[in-house]
Amino acid sequence: MRDLLAALAELRERLKEIPQADERRLPDLKTEILGRKAGALTRILARVPKLDPASRKEVGAAANALKREFEAALNARERELKHAATSVSSLDLTMPGRTSWRGGLHLVTQVVDEICEIFHELGFTRAVGPEIETERNNFFALNFPNDHPALDAQDSFYLDGDLLLRTHTSPVQIRTLERYRPPIRVVIPGLAYRRDPFDASHSPVFEQIEGLAVDEGITFVDFKATLAAFARRFFTPDTQVRFRPSYFPFTEPSAEMDVQCQICRGAGCPTCKQTGWMEILGSGMVHPAVLENTGVDSERYSGFAWGMGPARIAMSRHGIPDIRLLYESDVRFLAQFAEGAR
Ligand code: DAH
Repeated sequence: MRDLLAALAELRERLKEIPQADERRLPDLKTEILGRKAGALTRILARVPKLDPASRKEVGAAANALKREFEAALNARERELKHAATSVSSLDLTMPGRTSWRGGLHLVTQVVDEICEIFHELGFTRAVGPEIETERNNFFALNFPNDHPALDAQDSFYLDGDLLLRTHTSPVQIRTLERYRPPIRVVIPGLAYRRDPFDASHSPVFEQIEGLAVDEGITFVDFKATLAAFARRFFTPDTQVRFRPSYFPFTEPSAEMDVQCQICRGAGCPTCKQTGWMEILGSGMVHPAVLENTGVDSERYSGFAWGMGPARIAMSRHGIPDIRLLYESDVRFLAQFAEGAR
């Protein structure tokens, strides 16, 4: 009996080998200890029935307890090795690593920059003005009559007194003409505000780019040629443009410029409402009253001006059907246009 207890104690030492065993060693270890014929513990257990009753009880209890410990340790190690094996094989070493999130420029910002860049090459510099304006700069100096509907609180966001959120970027024409003497050639990007519903084609806040050229001897030919050159640079060299007569208080004559629809190339599609054309800007020859209101001699100087909506232009270029897609800040939508953004 003594020798059996000593053998069990010795065997217990081998429990320590199990957590270190690898998948080749583990089955051998199992056989060595618990093998049905020659397992060390099996052999001890086989001798238990031949012992005298008192020893049988003691050795039997100790041997069975040790057997359960071995079984538990072997099972635990087996599970551990199996788990390690599956997690190794599910690791795809060719998978690209996780990188940090990178932002990009909003589509409308990109279009604003691109437009300003093209006009920069044509000799125009960038100017800016405040979003809070006086009625005088926003309307009266631009030759709006006192009863123009845009002056109504229904249509514009008025602040205290005669201040309002500018309804267009045209007041920066006034600021520019009052601050600099001709020759003047500026493009003026910025936000404008109107009490419009936020729907598929309107946003109460939107970007505009204003343009103004004033000098001696500027004619309608300069005006048409400059804007047509811009359209061919911005869209494609063969893009057709047309000018339609229009009306603005601050230009005379006034015109709207259309470009051939970029989606159907003029054939007619839902984006251009089957017309084959997309309106991209309002424009005209600067009204002499605007020059006089800002102290510029309208006998000596003439000029042209225009205002365009970069969001609309982005929409016509990419066939985006709803302006809200641009202003709702859904990065999943915007990221497709932002180079390098993820
Ligand atoms: N300010 C006009 C608008 O918001 C756009 C515009 C039209 C600007 C003609 C101009 C222009 O400079 O000449 O609708």
